[in-house]
Amino acid sequence: TNPIITIDGPTASGKGTVAQLVAQALQFHYLDSGALYRLTALSALTQKLALDDELAIATIASQLPCRFEGEQIWLGDVEVGNTIRAEEIGNAASKIAVLPAVREALLQLQKSFSKAPGLIADGRDMGTVVFPDASLKIYLTASVAARAERRFKQLISKGFSASMQDLMQDLTERDARDQNRSAAPLKPAQGAYILDTSALTVDQAVAEVLQQYAS
Ligand code: CDP
Repeated sequence: TNPIITIDGPTASGKGTVAQLVAQALQFHYLDSGALYRLTALSALTQKLALDDELAIATIASQLPCRFEGEQIWLGDVEVGNTIRAEEIGNAASKIAVLPAVREALLQLQKSFSKAPGLIADGRDMGTVVFPDASLKIYLTASVAARAERRFKQLISKGFSASMQDLMQDLTERDARDQNRSAAPLKPAQGAYILDTSALTVDQAVAEVLQQYAS
């Protein structure tokens, strides 16, 4: 079986950045599971579905026509890599992620990313639900203030506008929704290595993950 490293944690904890750099260092594949929830949310919004229409949204998730090509993310024949980073899409993703049928519908698709020579999977339930047998499980976290600042910079760099105050509130709401939902609530997987990155640079966090994997 191929090695898998899971990186779970709350919103804007830097999982994506760290996971991609670890994947590069090890020449592993990378699964951005949050992107699958964001793509599903984007489709649901485009089709003007209510965000609690579990059956309809699970149907979308089970037939998601997505393709990942480096930085590009395709939904059908539209490139949406930047579009899905909007805060509005993130909030919608967090809402549809509470629906058990939607999570179930994305399960096989997520598992299919595990290929030779190995996989880094980033999300909320990679170590707890999707890849419980992973070789290494990381729980990446950081203070609300540090995460709001990272998200602020990320949104501005992608050309979105953002306010720190709104972001702090969004983060707090999303943390609560991720942690309190009954389907795959966000929590460290059994045996996970907990890495608080509030005071770490990206390079330090990456080095720490690589060191855990090597040991
Ligand atoms: O960028 P951010 O960390 O806020 O979110 P993301 O990783 O892109 O995921 C978007 C939303 O999908 C999150 O707010 C989660 O509620 C949900 N999600 C999930 O429930 N399970 C996953 N494995 C990944 C994301």
